[in-house]
Amino acid sequence: MKNTAQIAAVLWLLLAAIGPAQAAPPAATPYHFIRAIVVDPRSPDTLYVATDNQGLLKSIDGGKSWSFINQGIKNYLVYDVKLSITTPGRLYAATWGGGMYQSNDAGATWRELNEGLGNTAVGEIAIDADAQRRYDRLAIGTSTELYERRGDQLAWHAVTDRLRFWNGPQFQNALVIGPNANVASFYIGTERGLYVRQSGGRGWREVAALKGKRIAAMTAQPETGWLYAGTVADGGLFISRNQGITWQPAGAGLEKSWIRAVLLDPSAPKRLYVATSDAGIVKSDDDGATWTAINAGLPEKDVRTLALDPQHSDHLFAGLHGAGLFSSVDGGTTWTKIEGLPFDPVEKQTAQIDAQTTVAPPGKPAIPAAFAKCNQCHGWTDPALNQKPTYWRATANHRNWRVTVTRMSEGTTISPEEQAQIAAFLDRYTAEPAAH
Ligand code: HEC
Repeated sequence: MKNTAQIAAVLWLLLAAIGPAQAAPPAATPYHFIRAIVVDPRSPDTLYVATDNQGLLKSIDGGKSWSFINQGIKNYLVYDVKLSITTPGRLYAATWGGGMYQSNDAGATWRELNEGLGNTAVGEIAIDADAQRRYDRLAIGTSTELYERRGDQLAWHAVTDRLRFWNGPQFQNALVIGPNANVASFYIGTERGLYVRQSGGRGWREVAALKGKRIAAMTAQPETGWLYAGTVADGGLFISRNQGITWQPAGAGLEKSWIRAVLLDPSAPKRLYVATSDAGIVKSDDDGATWTAINAGLPEKDVRTLALDPQHSDHLFAGLHGAGLFSSVDGGTTWTKIEGLPFDPVEKQTAQIDAQTTVAPPGKPAIPAAFAKCNQCHGWTDPALNQKPTYWRATANHRNWRVTVTRMSEGTTISPEEQAQIAAFLDRYTAEPAAH
């Protein structure tokens, strides 16, 4: 783990959690760092919001009132939330460090969904269904691997093959499966290039037209199969109208921007919205040939995510880095802040640093001495495992610990014997669900 990219990752994690303008300790003023917004297509007054600092929020009255829906979630850095395509009331949530969660009761309660995962820094969920719509087909992007799981399978399995990438928490909106289930491909944007893998095919291939570009946002038009890839100051937005064979740059103006999200309007095929970190939101009515900035009413230009009400596509939602959630009822011409999102009085897991302990809690296995080495770089959201409190903390969920421990031990002094002890310990420690 001791290479520059990974040390930089700790800094990224800090920045991701507290925002670039501040240094640790975290800001005293509470804020919402919005990562993802979902409008339920079956009942568009139901909204789900994933935050990077306070977990998940839900409204059932179109955004007038809100509540936290974090029951069962151990990690509040929620980077993505998606509704099941096949099962009403089912949701999936991705956390950075705590892996995946599933809810079968519209977010009221959650349980871990980490069987088979070796990396639980999950940034994005891409969802699709089998052709008969019997089960969801999920793909998730973690910091180093791509995993897939069909709804009828118990475990995740890595589909990264020999593709090597490192995607920090800022590169987490660039995963597409499809564009339609029958000719399904995976596309993953990375800090260095866009990669494609034919479903059932072998291996990954870099998309030559975008070679080496930093890709931070992707989406696909389900009907046409057109693909959109947004870069980080690497030439703007690129569009492929032939399933990824050739790519053209969209219109001028975004070449130097950090593109965070691309939103297509299902009722107007040439209309698209792009969220950026430096220029706010831009809109195009001619499939990207020309762009207009639409920021009236937005207090900051760092916009992380966009969503629209599929029944009234002029009704938009925008999630900002620090300023919270905004909506527009006129296709983005004017924006209004959505008030009433609750704040956690103390930012969970980040502001409170637990006391040190090396004593296992009752009923838990003894902590091996070698585990202290895991605490050199980060703490744990489980206080019993904290030997050296630090700002960023990993979550001790049930998962495939051997894989995580091997990955974490690269370049450290943790010997193979110690790795085996630590993995066995964490497997036992996380075997039963933690008591609430
Ligand atoms: C040299 C520093 C360092 C050491 C030592 C280290 N980690 Fe990490 N760990 C990191 C960084 C950086 C991240 C975040 C980026 C990532 O996931 O690669 C991280 C992330 C994690 C995560 C969340 C991501 C995931 O893969 O699920 C877990 C869990 C974790 N570490 C466990 C451990 C364990 C167990 C050990 C001891 C075997 C350990 N770490 C030792 C630096 C370290």
